[in-house]
Amino acid sequence: MKRVDDFRLRFGKQELVPIMIGGMGVDISTAELALEAARLGGVGHISDAMVPTVSDRRFKTSFVKDKQKQYKYNVANTDKSEVQFDLGLLAEATRLHVGRTMEAKKGSGMVFINCMEKLTMNAPRETLRTRLCSALDGGIDGITLSAGLHLGSFGLMEDHPRFRDAKLGIIISSLRALQLFLRKNAKLNRFPDFIVVEGPLAGGHLGFDIKDWAKYDLRTIVLEVLQYLKNEHLDIPVIPAGGIFTGSDATAFLEEGAAAIQVATRFTVTNECGLPEKVMQEYLKASEADIEVNTVSPTGYPMRMLKSSPAIGSGIRPNCEAYGYLLDGNGHCSYIEAYNKQVELNPEAKKVIVMEKTCLCTHMRNFDCWTCGHYTYRLKDTTNKLADGKYQILSAEHVFKDYQFSTDQQISLPAL
Ligand SMILES: Cc1cc2nc3c(=O)[nH]c(=O)nc-3n(C[C@H](O)[C@H](O)[C@H](O)COP(=O)(O)O)c2cc1C
Repeated sequence: MKRVDDFRLRFGKQELVPIMIGGMGVDISTAELALEAARLGGVGHISDAMVPTVSDRRFKTSFVKDKQKQYKYNVANTDKSEVQFDLGLLAEATRLHVGRTMEAKKGSGMVFINCMEKLTMNAPRETLRTRLCSALDGGIDGITLSAGLHLGSFGLMEDHPRFRDAKLGIIISSLRALQLFLRKNAKLNRFPDFIVVEGPLAGGHLGFDIKDWAKYDLRTIVLEVLQYLKNEHLDIPVIPAGGIFTGSDATAFLEEGAAAIQVATRFTVTNECGLPEKVMQEYLKASEADIEVNTVSPTGYPMRMLKSSPAIGSGIRPNCEAYGYLLDGNGHCSYIEAYNKQVELNPEAKKVIVMEKTCLCTHMRNFDCWTCGHYTYRLKDTTNKLADGKYQILSAEHVFKDYQFSTDQQISLPAL
């Protein structure tokens, strides 16, 4: 019987264990987690979501405090369009986060960065170019483009000296999105080095419509993409993601022609993951009924999360002076509108409840938006329940090796 370790992900001459740990912002997929994946011979991701605040935590810099100070005068203003990112500082924070991570890399694997187009930061093109190019400057092995069609993203990097040597890939949820991407980039004479196909059971944002996400299934989309690439004589590694919970689930995809698999949820309850332990325990306790796909994210994409996430309904004042990652090119964010509406309707209230949208920047930054994959309710079966009623937190190495070596739908429990 085959197992994941019988397969290898190939980038040119380089061979890797075909396990990729997906990017999880904001700093849920930490440098430590990504570095473990690389040490074990696979691919790990850091995330480029809100890197200035991540850098402040990691290196005691003061990017957020300084920005907040600069825009202090605007805090009470309902219009946030004046709040801009300084591109030089953004590049500095990215180079620091990426550079220090890459310096610490050991082993034969790789570390990539997950880069979401939907972080529009009040200047979508300029900020995205800065984020992509400074990650390349920092020595990242590869970039995974996500949360958007990224029709212009390769173009933003084409003059960078590493544009043709770094591994550049894209996350898509339909063949159509891939076709659009390939068509738009045809003139650059540069194909993606890998394609992650993310199905509807993934964590984070979903590339499907809220009304019908449940009718899609990962395997069907993967087979469609594989067939298309074969017809076009394109040899690009395809990496399924979303709901791959066991080594056997992974092996089934590898046997059908996938080059690797991308997984995340099982790593949310590991020591190396950035979530606070009390949030990990919420994930471990969750039942299927505790998880929902909703529309509270201001990105406009559906998002999967625990229904008990403190972010849901929280009517905090928009904190764009400090963050502002979801401000579109005109300085708007749908949370600000939803919040202003509630304040207008309840002028006397000290605190408002905002159900429609959430202040995603602040809540992701504070680990109060508990986004998770569909199979989060199975996490309790991957570890031991301790005498005090809590669950044992795993090591990333244990989970990685369980994917790599397990067969027969088995999940090995950690030593107590
Ligand atoms: C907590 C969490 C946060 C995530 N954040 C992001 C993100 O910031 N960007 C992204 O492209 N995908 C994100 N994802 C999706 C994962 O990278 C991955 O593709 C997917 O969750 C794999 O499915 P699985 O969780 O069922 O293994 C996130 C997933 C989880 C569980």
